[in-house]
Amino acid sequence: MARILITSALPYINGIKHLGNLVGSQLPADLYARFQRGRGNEVLFLCATDEHGTPAELAAAKAGKPVADYCAELHDIQAGIARQFGLSFDHFGRSSSPQNRDLTQHLAAKLAENGLIEEISERQVYSNADGRFLPDRYIEGTCPNCGYDKARGDQCENCTKQLDPTDLIDPRSAISGSTDLEVRETKHLYLRQSLLKDDLDQWIDSKKDWPILTTSIAKKWLHDGDGLQDRGITRDLDWGIPVKKGDEDWPGMEGKVFYVWFDAPIEYIACAKEWADAHGKPDSAWERWWRTDKGADDVKYVQFMGKDNVPFHTLSFPATILGSKEPWKMVDHLKSFNYLNYDGGQFSTSQGRGVFQDQALEILSADYWRWWLLSHVPESSDSEFTWENFQQSVNKDLADVLGNFVSRITKFCRAKFGEAVPDGGEFGPTEQAVIDDLTTRIRAYEGHMDAMEVRKSAQELRAIWVIGNEYLQSAAPWSTFKTDPEQAAAQVRLALNLIRIYAVLSAPFIPDASARMLEAMQTDDDSWPDDVAAAVTALAPGHAFTVPDVLFAKITDEQREDWQTRFSGTRD
Ligand code: MF3
Ligand code: ZN
Repeated sequence: MARILITSALPYINGIKHLGNLVGSQLPADLYARFQRGRGNEVLFLCATDEHGTPAELAAAKAGKPVADYCAELHDIQAGIARQFGLSFDHFGRSSSPQNRDLTQHLAAKLAENGLIEEISERQVYSNADGRFLPDRYIEGTCPNCGYDKARGDQCENCTKQLDPTDLIDPRSAISGSTDLEVRETKHLYLRQSLLKDDLDQWIDSKKDWPILTTSIAKKWLHDGDGLQDRGITRDLDWGIPVKKGDEDWPGMEGKVFYVWFDAPIEYIACAKEWADAHGKPDSAWERWWRTDKGADDVKYVQFMGKDNVPFHTLSFPATILGSKEPWKMVDHLKSFNYLNYDGGQFSTSQGRGVFQDQALEILSADYWRWWLLSHVPESSDSEFTWENFQQSVNKDLADVLGNFVSRITKFCRAKFGEAVPDGGEFGPTEQAVIDDLTTRIRAYEGHMDAMEVRKSAQELRAIWVIGNEYLQSAAPWSTFKTDPEQAAAQVRLALNLIRIYAVLSAPFIPDASARMLEAMQTDDDSWPDDVAAAVTALAPGHAFTVPDVLFAKITDEQREDWQTRFSGTRD
């Protein structure tokens, strides 16, 4: 039995996410976690909300709530949605947890001890009216490049030029609109990543099985231009983890917090402690996943994320870990995704374009979305959601192929033999061919799932469902029954057993439907079909079952048009 640690990129706290966020990390991570558990491996699957930084502060201000309250509320909402989508996290934590605060402060102290922190004085905009520094997005003004008058401190939205807040003409506070601003000196901590360049280089070189896409992004950041830059890991904000050296004050850093991208990935570790604490487990329970001196040496650690997150996971976070000189487990495999677009454009949270996760669940239950999203995951390139394509996949794959198979055979059996697996007859060459065919395909499915090849896995699973339909078509038990009821009984017996096998194999993609299939077959035998010849006899003659309700309803043209209009823009 292998031990597999799985993390999904932590979703920002600021609002309910659209489907693009789901497909780019959490959903494929869940697919992998469910598959590995199904294979009998020990899995720890972690995720959390990413709660610090200016976006959280601004969203809370917009909602008119104290930021801590806002985050607590949104965390619960996101956790509820994740549960409804069937995301099987062992723990869904919070980067604002005490566990993460302690660990972040601890790691900063270690980095300082190892000579990897430098204190640097900078000039930043201070607002007298607001009584605070105005970082990045807190300041607006006229773009020196194009003259746009609502440029933000970090970037001009109009001409996309990257800006420094001190570049803006006629700057004003985005909080109060005040122009009573001045430039003040402020001190910040920098992580001297440049000193870790060789260590990082070697570590990346040791990852022989990483996809080229991942390695090339990492190498580009290491070697291009000025190479790996030291980076500021503190900010002049109220909301965040206070800058401390372990438990001790950090002289000159009073009132400052760590930068959100410093503490967020540390939550991957702290989340494991949150999990242990929540279940009354001792520290050794989480340390055996994370400390190589405490058993994590034989853990395989896999991270899932969108491509924009790759540099942070291949360089910044590893720099924190390596720089601590403590024996933390580092990532073994990193799976990154491209973007999902929406109906001829981009999903847009600000414009309300596309389907938000809560809205998706209002119109259809999780399995419909899980199937479409996973079978169209933006793996080797960006992909696009269209309502036509969604309707087609659901109606064909889920309703016509899988749903129809289950319904046809259970109904036929009930009509001719009653609601129990029929006795009599024997498997012949046709059935053997099905077993052989299934064996080949199931082994291929396992290979793709193990390799996190999501689209190939979905295709293989669909092909496995098709085998059942084709068998029914060619064996035609309804005709056989007229001439040779014994043989028809054997055919029905095989097909009923396929339902159980399909439930087990499909569970990572469509867990609800799988559970309903097992329930209809009145079995809790969810053992993996390692030996297909044995698996097709798991439900023995006489075993009772029931005909399930329709597994998947078809999407009508009317529904499709209705949804298309409803989600074309501006959320109300
Ligand atoms: N919140 C970030 C995003 O959505 C991801 C953070 S991943 C972590 O892009 F590792 F930093 F936690
Ligand atoms: Zn501009």
